[in-house]
Amino acid sequence: VGVIQKEVLESIAQGASVVPIEQELRKSIGIYKQAWTIVHNVFAVTKKGKPADFQSLFPVVDSFIESIQRNPDALVCFCLNKSKDDYLLKHAISASVIAARFSIFLGLDASRVRSIAVGALLNDLGKVFIPSNILYKQGRLTDEEFSLVRLHSDKAQKILSACEDFDEEVVLAVAQHHERFNGSGYPNGLKDKQISLAGQISAIADTYDAITSHKLYREARPATDALLLIHAEKDRSFSKDLINQFIHCIGLYPVGTLVALNNGNVGVVFQQNSEKVKTPMVRQIYNLKAKRMLNPLIDVDLSAVSQEEGIRILCHVPVNKFSFNPLSAIA
Ligand SMILES: [Fe+2]
Repeated sequence: VGVIQKEVLESIAQGASVVPIEQELRKSIGIYKQAWTIVHNVFAVTKKGKPADFQSLFPVVDSFIESIQRNPDALVCFCLNKSKDDYLLKHAISASVIAARFSIFLGLDASRVRSIAVGALLNDLGKVFIPSNILYKQGRLTDEEFSLVRLHSDKAQKILSACEDFDEEVVLAVAQHHERFNGSGYPNGLKDKQISLAGQISAIADTYDAITSHKLYREARPATDALLLIHAEKDRSFSKDLINQFIHCIGLYPVGTLVALNNGNVGVVFQQNSEKVKTPMVRQIYNLKAKRMLNPLIDVDLSAVSQEEGIRILCHVPVNKFSFNPLSAIA
């Protein structure tokens, strides 16, 4: 990943887009499909107890990083709106994309970004050994079942530690993705700085995607709710400083979020303003009073509207309230 130039990393960290989101969203479909095929293979081979081609994951992660270089929001937005796929694989890809995005935002060097993103891709590799009736159980897990599930980070760590493809940071990202800032996590109840930065980034990406994903036993929670839930865990589950950075990275209203505005319109967030997380750029698409789509669509930069205009976000709007995919308005 030596191709990641310092100035590109800086421009991404500052929230600058290199190519328009609609252009990169179209590429996201191919990137996601290819990642799916390779990650599926690694998980399936591991499940059979055979040595997987872990090297094949590096080009996958490089394709994520290159996409984030071109536009920091597109692939995250695509993954977050992809909720009906096989959860284990969808979650692996999304957590990795989010971890890569966040690591780049934090200004980590290219090799660390790559290691943390590969680690996040493999967080739940150990779950392939959990019987599906437990893994996909709709009701509450028994203590015995939960103990079995909790073994998954240890199992993955053992496989990855024995493999020469990975540096220490990959293994730490996986081994520590369920450790929590106040020591309440597993497997080792590590606290505060005992948890590596890789482990902390991996944990935040894993939790954020888990909350925003559709699962058999519950609907996906909106991204805004996920951030508020994670923020409420500051200095309990996660470091306060890191959570504040994460909110600036992903945005309180991530790209792709449907929002209701106080002017009676509904719009889709299509670009972050990383300095002002409450005022992203919104493409207005629907008027609630007239109950009709706007034509043409009207873009508004909420960070730039004057006080007299006073347009602001009232709340996010659940996607199932409308019969269209918000991505179609920005792709
Ligand atoms: Fe996990």
